Amino acid sequence: MSEAKNSDPKKLFIKTYGCQMNVYDSERMAEALGGKGYVETDSPDDADMILLNTCHIREKAAEKVYSELGRFKGLKAEKPDLKIGVAGCVAQAEGEEIMRRQPLVDLVVGPQAYHRLPEMEAKTRTGEKALDTDFPEEDKFALLKSRPKARRAPAAFLTVQEGCDKFCAFCVVPYTRGAEVSRPVERVLSEARDLVERGVREITLLGQNVNAYHGQGPNGTWSLAQLIWALNDVDGLERIRFTTSHPNDMDDDLIAAHGECEKLMPYLHLPVQSGSDKILKRMNRSHTAESYLRLIERIRAARPDILISGDFIVGFPEEDDQDFEDTMALIREVNYGQAFSFKYSTRPGTPAAERALVDDAVASERLYRLQALIAEQQRGIQDSMVGRDVSVLFEKAGRFEGQMVGKSDYLHAVHVADAGAEVGDIARVRIVESGPNSLKGELIR
Ligand code: 5AD
Ligand code: SF4
Repeated sequence: MSEAKNSDPKKLFIKTYGCQMNVYDSERMAEALGGKGYVETDSPDDADMILLNTCHIREKAAEKVYSELGRFKGLKAEKPDLKIGVAGCVAQAEGEEIMRRQPLVDLVVGPQAYHRLPEMEAKTRTGEKALDTDFPEEDKFALLKSRPKARRAPAAFLTVQEGCDKFCAFCVVPYTRGAEVSRPVERVLSEARDLVERGVREITLLGQNVNAYHGQGPNGTWSLAQLIWALNDVDGLERIRFTTSHPNDMDDDLIAAHGECEKLMPYLHLPVQSGSDKILKRMNRSHTAESYLRLIERIRAARPDILISGDFIVGFPEEDDQDFEDTMALIREVNYGQAFSFKYSTRPGTPAAERALVDDAVASERLYRLQALIAEQQRGIQDSMVGRDVSVLFEKAGRFEGQMVGKSDYLHAVHVADAGAEVGDIARVRIVESGPNSLKGELIR
């Protein structure tokens, strides 16, 4: 009886917070622990190990981690062998403080150290606590075992760059993820080919500042544009995306690629944060509202139908009514297909943390107005898709018989009835209706 129990796979529950880079890291952590006999479960109740892959970008995100950990108290009391770990940017930023604040945590692993998870897990099994928030000398991805050969969902993330050297005054990323590091070209290409062999048709290249990519390639350092062109030649790969970008790193080749590179999708996430030059300066953004608008113009000249997405912070210290109106004016000029917007959140250790805060009620009111404007633009662009032909990569079956759900080139969710298609197929679809969160399309036969 007990032998059978020993050979049962151990179960791993991972909860991912924050950005897409964390989604990618969670996959790689699950694979690393797969080598130790773990299989993933989607319920914490039957897990032998719970890992929270955390985000430190805003205060609320970090606090969520502690309240989530508190909820596992009962579970741990019932199952003393259950191990609880904290990974990601809160782990990096707070390290041992996490174990002090929440003694039920057995393991703390930073985003640069998770190739060591198998040894750390073994250490926790001897009853010790394990902590590692080092930055290794070598690229951690090279230290991870190669990826298992299982079939994959058709759209995948691939991290090509980590860290940030920009030091925006509000942002913890340069401290939690460290300086900019790019993975070598050959490693990226071989991981991409491997993903394609396992059924992937679309790859989103990830980096905290992905368009600052400068990886070692066959003849020196390669830019993101060069990397995209090399991926364009990978047979079986049909779609390429990248995120997230900084306006100052949109070089001419990358702009031109949006017009010329067949597999590069017409969608660009290009955060500006604010439309006020005074605030941009205080944010240490090193671009102006005007230079951002001219950049958008050049990108649209290369690819007129491109869908632009962005990030905004309202209530940054010393933002006055006029500064906020400047942001609203910039939004009106760009016309965003999608945007993420946040109230400024003080992050200890960042330069902006020293400055006087905007009244919270004022910041909330600004956020409300900004989000209403973005929602209107997003809706307008979505509605304008009706009558147009797009390509859709099917990602899953829909709720109704024969229905499939996928993403258009512009990243809109599209439902197609009687699609006669399988997951991973790409079809030409005519958009016939625009719903609250998705489009409806018909197959062009
Ligand atoms: N407060 C609010 N929003 C922030 N972001 C980054 N740091 C902060 C902060 N301290 C937002 C930025 C960034 C996105 C990932 O998160 O808009 O582009
Ligand atoms: Fe943070 Fe600015 Fe770097 Fe983006 S560019 S990760 S907002 S410091």
